[in-house]
Amino acid sequence: MAKITTSTLQKMKTQGQKISTITAYDASFAKLFDQAGIHAILIGDSLGMVLQGQDDTLPVDIEHMAYHTQCVKRGVEDTLIIADMPFMSYASKEQAFTNAAKLMQAGASMVKIEGGQWLMDTIQGLVERGIPVCAHLGLTPQSVNVFGGFKVQGRDNDKALAMIEDAKALEAAGAQLLVLECIPSELGKAISEAVTIPTIGIGAGKDTDGQILVMHDALGISCSYMPKFSRNFLIDTGDIKKAIELYIKEVSNGNFPGTEHIFK
Ligand code: KIV
Repeated sequence: MAKITTSTLQKMKTQGQKISTITAYDASFAKLFDQAGIHAILIGDSLGMVLQGQDDTLPVDIEHMAYHTQCVKRGVEDTLIIADMPFMSYASKEQAFTNAAKLMQAGASMVKIEGGQWLMDTIQGLVERGIPVCAHLGLTPQSVNVFGGFKVQGRDNDKALAMIEDAKALEAAGAQLLVLECIPSELGKAISEAVTIPTIGIGAGKDTDGQILVMHDALGISCSYMPKFSRNFLIDTGDIKKAIELYIKEVSNGNFPGTEHIFK
């Protein structure tokens, strides 16, 4: 497989090819996912929940993220590496520049930040300084306390329209990828059509340009709870690499997500 860059993902959107991405936090899983042909790996701040056993992502700090980014980098040859900027690490532009630099120096090729139009200056500043940005809208887990829980977002019309405007603004500011989490599938479709950058959905329906899953969900390791939008691919294959190959195939041929995985 050739090295995957932001241009590869952009070209995939243009050609109507679905993008498959997954989280990873260490070298061994990252290597397997890379060999299986995954297009991008996210070192998600979900590591707070699935590795550290926290209730949410808020306790994760930049040193945790840099450490796991270094680990993933050692396992990867071709896959694009995206690292999450943790809670309050981009509250100001200056903080964003300093902390994003740590993740890029740890091995990321792109950073991800959660939020809408208030991030436009930050995104523009990061891109001007050579740091590609993935934006994240919908259920942005760092705002769980504002939302009053992990709830589907954008269900009412005003909120849905505001999210479409946010998506366009983030693209205009220079974001090159957009994660959409837990929104009605119709809104996932509308946003994916409203922007030219690739959209990557998790609980955002089948019409986004790609999908992302937390690896623990895709492999059924989060045994106490399986989110509605996820699927255990290990159960069908009994082998981790084959499970990820199946995930990529099912995303590519439009079988995942199925109607049982989407929100209305
Ligand atoms: O932290 C994470 O794993 C994420 C994905 C769920 C998109 O942000």
